[in-house]
Amino acid sequence: MTEKKLTQIKPHGGTLVNLMVEGDAKQALLATADTLPKLELNERELADIEMLATGAMSPLDGFMTEEIYKSVLDTMHLPHGLPWTLPITLAVKQGQDASIYSEGTDVALVHDGTILGVLHLTSKWQPDKTAEAKTILLTNDEAHPGVQYLNSIGDTYLGGKLSVFEKPKHEILNDYRLDPKETHVLFKAKGWSTVVAFQTRNPIHRAHEYLQKTALEIVDGLLIHPLVGATKKGDIPADVRMDCYNVLLENYYPKDRVAITVFPAAMRYAGPREAIFHAIVRKNYGCTHFIVGRDHAGVGDYYGTYDAQYIFDEFDPAALDITPLMFEHAFFCKRCGNMASQKTCPHGNEDHVFLSGTKVRAMLEEGELPPPTFTRPEVAEVLKKAYQKGE
Ligand code: ADX
Repeated sequence: MTEKKLTQIKPHGGTLVNLMVEGDAKQALLATADTLPKLELNERELADIEMLATGAMSPLDGFMTEEIYKSVLDTMHLPHGLPWTLPITLAVKQGQDASIYSEGTDVALVHDGTILGVLHLTSKWQPDKTAEAKTILLTNDEAHPGVQYLNSIGDTYLGGKLSVFEKPKHEILNDYRLDPKETHVLFKAKGWSTVVAFQTRNPIHRAHEYLQKTALEIVDGLLIHPLVGATKKGDIPADVRMDCYNVLLENYYPKDRVAITVFPAAMRYAGPREAIFHAIVRKNYGCTHFIVGRDHAGVGDYYGTYDAQYIFDEFDPAALDITPLMFEHAFFCKRCGNMASQKTCPHGNEDHVFLSGTKVRAMLEEGELPPPTFTRPEVAEVLKKAYQKGE
């Protein structure tokens, strides 16, 4: 039997960036780090520094400079032409004196009293955050969680390359935290040539499962890659979600074709632009395909149901170099007796099971289980217990 040839997945820009400094270089930077002006990182920045350091955000090698930021906002591409849709920025905190940071000098980046790394500051500017929100989030509405984030940070951004000494430490889910170079090794060990990534910030319900399993019919492996960085109030905490994923995988998924590791990023709720970002970053983790369903990375009614799919048409597929697998709104059809979408089911809405997030939450709070046509009973049980504990 001839051995299967594995495809080499190239990171965005060709090389997996590694910003971790070690040995003498680390000692030299650490020796002076304590004397530098300090900047405390917020939760989103902390997740970003981790992804920048490990190459998940390749080819970025630091927080964006004004030039890169403007290019991303105006063109959805980096200055040298690669697709990139979201600003990855570092902000001076509200009420903090920005004059202590000067271009051409270093800034110590701190979390919980530990210096995690140094920003080699080359760009300091005052962004037009209203324009940023309008361009990236397509709204200035203060009810949008991304607008609330922008309003919560200071008015000065600091950009430049990073040297990172230490990755942020986490209290939960440490067994699931694989960096891009580790997922590459994992896929190789499993012998997967094609891998589809599934982004989620929710428990996996039947519709999600349907998308994943449909994709699994055409690729070698599935990476369930739940986002575990900051999410908005009301989203289910990552540890509860992990319990849901585990009971589901145990009972309903083929063990040798599915892997689950976590995605450290914060949610931006930027809909279409975030879908492109989510895809590019998954390419850096070694995936060849990426699932985009209905209202990907959406919130409220800010984006059209399929806008996060249409935006892929605005990019050269060869430059993105990860294949999006697009899915229509999926549901259980009582007459078909299976999961379906408008593409595969001839019946009307009266035969379809639709449950809003609000309705599901209300059921769980009442101690009621959502039906198995919406979510697997084992998942419903985990959620019911979490709701009853008030999580
Ligand atoms: S997201 O913010 O991470 O996109 P969510 O966890 O709900 O939210 O969705 C994960 C993925 O499943 C996204 O690609 C989303 O578009 C897709 N999706 C969620 N529900 C459905 C559904 N009923 N039909 C089709 N796609 C869906």
